[in-house]
Amino acid sequence: KSFPSHPIIGKEEIDQIMEVLKSGNISTFVASRGDNFLGGKKIKEFEGEFSNKIGTKYAIAFNSATAALHAAVVAVGVQPGEEVVVPPYTFTSTATSSLMHNAIPVFSDVKQDIFCIDPSKLENVHSDLTRAVIPVHLFGHASDMDEIMIFAKKNNLRVIEDCAQSPGGQYKNKNLGTIGDCGVFSFQESKNMMTGEGGMLVTNDEDIANAAQMVRNHGEMVISNKNRTYKSEILGWNYRMTELEAALGVAQISKLDFLNDERIKLANFVAREINKIDGLKHVKYDSVKHVYYAFAFSFDEVKIGISRNLFCEALSAEGIPCSGGYVKPLYLNPLYLEKRAFAYKHYSGNVKYEKGLCPISEILHDKELILLEICRYPATLKDMQDVYFRPATLTAGEREVRITGPIRL
Ligand SMILES: Cc1ncc(COP(=O)(O)O)c(C=O)c1O
Repeated sequence: KSFPSHPIIGKEEIDQIMEVLKSGNISTFVASRGDNFLGGKKIKEFEGEFSNKIGTKYAIAFNSATAALHAAVVAVGVQPGEEVVVPPYTFTSTATSSLMHNAIPVFSDVKQDIFCIDPSKLENVHSDLTRAVIPVHLFGHASDMDEIMIFAKKNNLRVIEDCAQSPGGQYKNKNLGTIGDCGVFSFQESKNMMTGEGGMLVTNDEDIANAAQMVRNHGEMVISNKNRTYKSEILGWNYRMTELEAALGVAQISKLDFLNDERIKLANFVAREINKIDGLKHVKYDSVKHVYYAFAFSFDEVKIGISRNLFCEALSAEGIPCSGGYVKPLYLNPLYLEKRAFAYKHYSGNVKYEKGLCPISEILHDKELILLEICRYPATLKDMQDVYFRPATLTAGEREVRITGPIRL
């Protein structure tokens, strides 16, 4: 039996989509002053519900989290040529969003237990050019926000929370996305809540909200009250979400708590069982509400006696979706090693991208981190029990066939 596919489309999503189709307005945005600069009915409804849910004054919908991150870098006031500190163990656009604004990503290592940026190392990468930090609440677990905010305040830095993987997650009872200057969420199809593609920027800061709305919609005409003159206020793009995606968002946000609770229930079971095995370890801090976009744990090849990759191949052969996570630290990609972005042409700092830069990230990538993508609705506790107990009940003969069959040793 294979694991159920994701996402689940229900009657609520279909009804919402039909409402938009019947209305005939698939996108009501126009790039000039007036109500329609801020989008149509469903965009406003989704933004309103999202800001209520997260608890911020403003929520601004985008067509991806990547677009929202780019807008966030602009909106918090980072200038081209300035530096933005990011973790190297994350999805590409946490870092490329700075390059899109001709700013420079500077990588700072992560913690070995929760895989998020390590606040105690931020001082090592700080320079006169540093303007912002983007902590990622990776896999749904919060970064150490108190320490990050103290560091940011001391050094006059802006903080953009990358919450792409953590909608509904919390740090010390505060919703993720509400602690820094702004937060960014992804609704790409694999996420805890989804709109196919989509993103959201949340903030309590009116200036950030205004700037983000301009970046989203060609940068035109929201300040002037004249009719459309094609006067560009700032460099803007078309990062607008459609009414169809917003409609899916309205349906999905009403399910977010349920979907997260299901993930947490399944993950708690897996965590309890995994932590009984010497050599496997899942860590969640007590102060954090983890929403388990993915279930990540550490693997000790010496204690287990085989390599991480062989272990993953064996699990996959049992039908359990499993991987070694992100392939390599971002800075070891040619984009960084060979400084292939325009941003570097007018940059006066000393950013370094080389092997050995962030040793914890490197070891996690090479051999220590394992990701399971099974703790999500509609999988059940029974499925988790099968995952955990079934391999142990195989006979020696079955085990040999299952493990040596599909795997290249
Ligand atoms: C940590 C992180 N940041 C940013 C993104 C970008 O999201 P999107 O695909 O919506 O652009 C992702 C997407 O997977 C992500 O995981």
